[in-house]
Amino acid sequence: MASPVRTDTEIIGRSNVNDVDTIIEISRTNSDAQAVIHAVQDNSDALFTWDYAKGARPKLERLYEKAKTSQWNAQTDLDWSIEVDPYEAFSIFTESNFEAEPGRDTARRLPTDSWGEAEWREFSLESFKWRMSQFLHGEQGALLCTAKIVETVPWIDAKYYAATQVVDEARHVEVFDKYINTKLGDSYPINVHLKMLLDDIINDSRWDMTYLGMQIMVEGLALAAFGFMQQLTPEPLLKQLLRYVMADEARHVAFGVLSLQEFYCELTAAELRERQEFAFEAAVRMRDRFLSQEVWERMGVPVRPMVENFLALPADQKPFQNILFSKIVPNCKKLGLLDAGDGWLRRRFEEIQVIEFEHWADTGEEYENFQNFTPT
Ligand SMILES: [Fe+2]
Ligand SMILES: [Fe+2]
Repeated sequence: MASPVRTDTEIIGRSNVNDVDTIIEISRTNSDAQAVIHAVQDNSDALFTWDYAKGARPKLERLYEKAKTSQWNAQTDLDWSIEVDPYEAFSIFTESNFEAEPGRDTARRLPTDSWGEAEWREFSLESFKWRMSQFLHGEQGALLCTAKIVETVPWIDAKYYAATQVVDEARHVEVFDKYINTKLGDSYPINVHLKMLLDDIINDSRWDMTYLGMQIMVEGLALAAFGFMQQLTPEPLLKQLLRYVMADEARHVAFGVLSLQEFYCELTAAELRERQEFAFEAAVRMRDRFLSQEVWERMGVPVRPMVENFLALPADQKPFQNILFSKIVPNCKKLGLLDAGDGWLRRRFEEIQVIEFEHWADTGEEYENFQNFTPT
């Protein structure tokens, strides 16, 4: 087990959160990105419980009952006959909006300065393919993590609920893969930062760390990212697909909050610090992931100046990155992680400029708001 107070180098592999060299270099460790199988050591015990008292945790039971009546079929509930123009489905980058980017140091030359509309159009498409590919890989991570939770969580209500989430995640992998294959044509391998995070979550022996890493951090970010994309895309199939997936994801994040709230009340300050460190690691990995270095590489652009430029922007000029944390920060607050001990996690979230979301709605009961997204 990790010692309760670790250095940044021990937590994230570097002493400076914004160390561009390490962020870029680490992608060279993604050597098996093209291999078909990636094995990760799973260090947990599978727990039987002989306490079958259903409803001992009423909120989890309610979530389980809700999940059973909210199932949908990826093959038949979505209209796959819709024709998609990949260039128009999520075209958020244009020459004009990049040049107009507030805060951009205009004295500083970037490799993209010579780009015209054609290059930005290509970049928009590649970014879209990359984003959908990372969603696909993340969904498979959720599938594996939730199967693990069925084994490792000690409560029957949570085992029941997690079993429904396994089916949800299988469906999510199915829809993202089908959309990529039939509508976009090609995909990207898993991003190294996302892969490191998923590996760490699966690898941890403590059952609550799977929840914290997956249900709170990865799925919290996914819920916000899906919402952002769902609002902006004019493409009807993608809009429909994301609405269905979001209804499921809201339940998944609620599952994490409801399960961990009870457990974290019993933990010591040292044990909570380990959770804070894990939450911070996950936040940094996810931020690094969204630097999307593989897209710059595929576009033939040097990665370093683009990553440096992005990291140097002030927080209020990175709205997309920031909105991704809009679910994570309030949920960490609700779990008591933000201010546990000496408020270490609050300071770290301030440092990576995502603290502003602490007063936003947490996802404990938010799944109720997503009910109009479920099939009728
Ligand atoms: Fe999912
Ligand atoms: Fe999920």
